Amino acid sequence: MPCKLAAGNWKMNGLRADLEELRALIAAQPEPDCGVLICPPATLLAPMAAIADGSRLLLGGQDCHTGQSGAHTGDISAAMLADAGARHVILGHSERRADHGESSDLVAAKARAAHDAGLTAIICVGETEAERDAGRTLDVVLGQLRDSTPKAATAANTVIAYEPVWAIGTGRTPTLAQIAEVHDALRAAVPDAEISLLYGGSVKPGNAADIFALANVDGALVGGASLKAADFSAIIAAL
Ligand code: G3P
Repeated sequence: MPCKLAAGNWKMNGLRADLEELRALIAAQPEPDCGVLICPPATLLAPMAAIADGSRLLLGGQDCHTGQSGAHTGDISAAMLADAGARHVILGHSERRADHGESSDLVAAKARAAHDAGLTAIICVGETEAERDAGRTLDVVLGQLRDSTPKAATAANTVIAYEPVWAIGTGRTPTLAQIAEVHDALRAAVPDAEISLLYGGSVKPGNAADIFALANVDGALVGGASLKAADFSAIIAAL
């Protein structure tokens, strides 16, 4: 069985004052038969690692460079994320693909760098609303999966997150049938059938249980609702 995972992506949110939310999350965390992961901005990784020490909470980065070190001003390597306490790194998020022009080939190179540093790569795929309206959802998602995922990816080093671009931060979610269609196709296409498949896009306490009940959904990648311990705890409890 693929591992169940609730992952929180804090995006460009979080100051040291917000570390209270992490303390509250750890205090409230039930003992789920799953992993719970927070991916904060890189500035909060080390202080979060200190707070999470001794708990089961996992930490991750939101991006990494393809190299391990060198002359790349403003970038951060997978080795640096690991050194700061990360076990995972989100790669190919649609906000990176759109804002920074990241191609699937680049995402695959970043995933290889993450694997080399001992990190689990959470590779994001998802269609825009225009692509869905044009009937291209499966073509787009499976194409991104193929081109963004290293051939050697296994359940030990890779997670796939399906995030329809039009559902991110909008309060709109696909129907359960639409999520199931994509996740079933992803399950058939991943290089290792045990790879965990997360859904992301406006996951909230009120819709998490129905989404998690789908056969090939192994958890969620949560944005806004991961910022507050109470909301994220409720989502974790639904896993
Ligand atoms: O990576 C998580 C994300 O893009 C979903 O964001 O705020 O819709 O849960 P949100």
